[in-house]
Amino acid sequence: DQAAAKPKLTVLLCAPRGFCAGVDRAIQIVELALEKYGPPVYVRHEIVHNKFVVESLRAKGAVFVEELDEIPEGDRPVIFSAHGVPKSVPADASARNMFFLDATCPLVSKVHKEAQLHHKRGHDIVLIGHAGHPEVIGTMGQLPEGTVSLIETEEDARAFQPKDPDNLAWITQTTLSIDDTSAIVAILKERFPSILAPHKDDICYATTNRQEAVKEVAPRADAMIVVGAPNSSNSQRLREVAERAGCPHSALVQRASEIDWQDFEGISTLAVTAGASAPEVLVEEIIEAFANRFDVTVEVVRTAEETIAFNLPRELRATAAE
Ligand code: F3S
Repeated sequence: DQAAAKPKLTVLLCAPRGFCAGVDRAIQIVELALEKYGPPVYVRHEIVHNKFVVESLRAKGAVFVEELDEIPEGDRPVIFSAHGVPKSVPADASARNMFFLDATCPLVSKVHKEAQLHHKRGHDIVLIGHAGHPEVIGTMGQLPEGTVSLIETEEDARAFQPKDPDNLAWITQTTLSIDDTSAIVAILKERFPSILAPHKDDICYATTNRQEAVKEVAPRADAMIVVGAPNSSNSQRLREVAERAGCPHSALVQRASEIDWQDFEGISTLAVTAGASAPEVLVEEIIEAFANRFDVTVEVVRTAEETIAFNLPRELRATAAE
């Protein structure tokens, strides 16, 4: 019997994993817009950082662009990605008479509003985040250039020289490492005791829950697979969290074809999770690939329940209800 010849493998499947409410909503917005307005529907930037999702939507008639000037004149809708956009983007779209739908995650919009409120109250803002990530570009772009200072590391926090050390507020990207961020915040608080904190963490519930689940399983696992894209911030963080929590090997893969099987030889326990933009079919594909080589038993390790869902933009609610 072939199955008996395979080595045994316990798969510790993290829950929650994969799609968050913001990603789910963003994908729905593109799908509903295609249904309501017909193709092509333009999307500025990858709607969420996942090639598989982007390709599936492209097959249905979505056209992905990086900037608005790539969109031909006409009456086609354009959708802004879940990561959020600088204020200049909707302004530019309006100036060009474009019809746009905003798929920015409401939890990113929350951070945008915080930044604006701090600015209105005259505080200087420190944004903790990764330079170049679209969410960081979007959040910094809520305010005039030079208003928001970006801090990426503990060294940055130590070196930061504000104009007015007694008048600061910090905000963050939503998909950071919880532990790295606390370390950075601790330095800022020590150096600038009056610095204002967000009311509720800017790191979102989905990022938090996925990292906690990884911390729970990583010490028990010989190896970890994070299903996600290399440009997905929250997926990258999950891989790091696994390694720091004591998992000897952790890999970020988009598809089963990317698995480097040599790295998984001789393991008996494998932890699996997925970034917030990775669809469940890809998790299934990867577990199946392991099941071809191992005698797999899946054990779900649940560390939180998620019930959060976000409202759709007004324009699409009727289409969604049909
Ligand atoms: Fe929103 Fe967090 Fe997902 S900010 S898009 S719920 S990872």
